[in-house]
Amino acid sequence: MTKRILAIVLAVIFLSGSLGLALAASGKGNSRKGKYLYRKNCRTCHSAKGDAKDLSPISMTQAQWQATFAAKDKLACADQWSKLKDKDITDLYAYLYGHAKDSPSPAKCK
Ligand code: HEC
Repeated sequence: MTKRILAIVLAVIFLSGSLGLALAASGKGNSRKGKYLYRKNCRTCHSAKGDAKDLSPISMTQAQWQATFAAKDKLACADQWSKLKDKDITDLYAYLYGHAKDSPSPAKCK
């Protein structure tokens, strides 16, 4: 019985530790919200079915996403970005940068 309680306590400590790590890795933006925003505002064009290049976090390295966001006003679709709030852009960045090709958890947008 005590072994079981110990196992639960250890599991809770382990889980909250990984949650803390996940939050730290995402910086100040919310990557989950960024994913939602990306699918809602960007995938309409940036997918196999859309008119623009199919883009996912893994399409670029972290350095490339950083450079893209730094010069977002020069993109062909800058008018689409300007519809978003600063907070939304921070969340988008957390998602795209956080799952870039050379990040610890590369992801393709499904
Ligand atoms: C109305 C369609 C449309 C929407 C919505 C849109 N884009 Fe674009 N975007 C384009 C087009 C067209 C280009 C020009 C290059 C191409 O075809 O991918 C482009 C270019 C880009 C590029 C440069 C790609 C490259 O390698 O040259 C990035 C990065 C990008 N968009 C990101 C985004 C993000 C992030 C969003 C959501 C905030 C977004 N776009 C929303 C149409 C769109």
